[in-house]
Amino acid sequence: MSSDNNNNSDTLSAIDSRTGKEYSLPIAHDTIPATKLREIKVNDDDFGMLSYDPALKNTVTCKSSICFIDGEKGILEYRGYPIEDTASKGTYLEICWLLLYGELPLAAELDMFQAEISAATYAPEDIQKLHDVFNKNLHPMAMLESALAALGGEFDDIDDVLNAESRHQQIIRLIALTPVLAAMGYRHRNDLGPVEVNTELSYSSNFLHMMLSRKGREDEIHPALEKAMDALLILHADHEQNCSANAMRAVASSQVNPYSSAAAAASALHGPLHGGANQAVLEMLNQIESVDDVPAFLESCKNGERRLMGFGHRVYKNYDPRAKVIGELAANVFDVVGHNPKLDIARALEKAAIEDEYFSSRKLFPNVDFYSGLIYSAMGFDSRMFTVFFAVGRMVGWLAHWDEMMADSSTKIVRPRQIYTGYGRRDWVDSADRK
Ligand code: SDX
Repeated sequence: MSSDNNNNSDTLSAIDSRTGKEYSLPIAHDTIPATKLREIKVNDDDFGMLSYDPALKNTVTCKSSICFIDGEKGILEYRGYPIEDTASKGTYLEICWLLLYGELPLAAELDMFQAEISAATYAPEDIQKLHDVFNKNLHPMAMLESALAALGGEFDDIDDVLNAESRHQQIIRLIALTPVLAAMGYRHRNDLGPVEVNTELSYSSNFLHMMLSRKGREDEIHPALEKAMDALLILHADHEQNCSANAMRAVASSQVNPYSSAAAAASALHGPLHGGANQAVLEMLNQIESVDDVPAFLESCKNGERRLMGFGHRVYKNYDPRAKVIGELAANVFDVVGHNPKLDIARALEKAAIEDEYFSSRKLFPNVDFYSGLIYSAMGFDSRMFTVFFAVGRMVGWLAHWDEMMADSSTKIVRPRQIYTGYGRRDWVDSADRK
């Protein structure tokens, strides 16, 4: 939401039919201050009116300058830079700096940032031991959620959340260590032994190295795979007030440390309606034997048997610009690792859905999760890792929102209200008298 077609004197007039009273609410950025609704009462001792918006579908919860989305036009910009440019021209650490500090970094700033990240990229022994005791069937997102909260125990300066310098330290550690935790989960599940960090490599190359390295083998990470992973991390880096960013802001508003807040954000991302959709897309494609089965599968989505995972979006009512970029990335990766027939099925599914009235009338288009899993699968990863990769990329977005919120002195603890639909006051009933 960004609208400057208001001036300070704009107001919304409302008449309460219960009392005939007229109210004038100030308009700013096409919003009205919800707390002003409290002036609307029938009796003077009433609490006053509230707005009802269970999924916050039409509610602005903050002001932010980090990320801009125009859902109707399919536009996504990080601090004003279009996603198409950031993904094709930037590196992930460059975009981390941009999201955190608002400008593309100067060469010296990027060198310093890279050095801080490298110095913080060590594999905490306690956290490696934590992974060693996880049930191998535990979802790697659950491992990450647990390890993020436990990571806070590695440092003794994590609670000074109102201090900008302390926040910067936590931000560096979380950007540096989230891929290490992700690699620990991957290696534990696959019995590959402890993580070996190599900060001589780029951020994304080291991430792939920490997962894929094998004792006694010096496998080079293919440049096309490093570029694809780096671009995917950028494409997933931020997306304004999505479910997990909202979780980050709500949990962090209690002034808890960012490791626990990030664990909560990762838990929100885990869900199949959010970041878990990339895993669900591949599981969906695995149910479709061939392109010939696409029409029948689409019918099952239209009759409500299932959802077409990787399609639809609360904000985009046009093509998710990230889906376009990822679709092009997929072609580059498959040129290296060999064609995957699932890509043909995905493209056939996309074409059929876009041309189908059920999807077009509901403005359902491919979102960021539709093609991303195909790339991770082509890199050799199992589908349960896909949301973990989403979390590694999105960590910087959660942290940028956290930093922006904690720097704002007007920030208060999030505590919504409710419409109470339960019993009226009633007397206690002893156990012997209960029916
Ligand atoms: C992400 O918010 C973000 O920015 C998230 C994200 C980010 O970067 O952080 O972009 C990442 O989470 C992308 C979304 C990944 N999720 C999926 O791909 C799961 C499948 N998509 C849907 O479940 C759904 O589209 C949501 C959850 C994404 C959005 O849901 P809404 O906005 O609550 O819409 P809705 O469920 O009210 O659906 C509206 C209509 C319904 O039909 P009718 O009741 O009008 O008949 O559209 C239908 C829905 O049944 N519909 C779908 C559908 N998505 C919506 N029908 C079939 N397949 C789908 N995927």
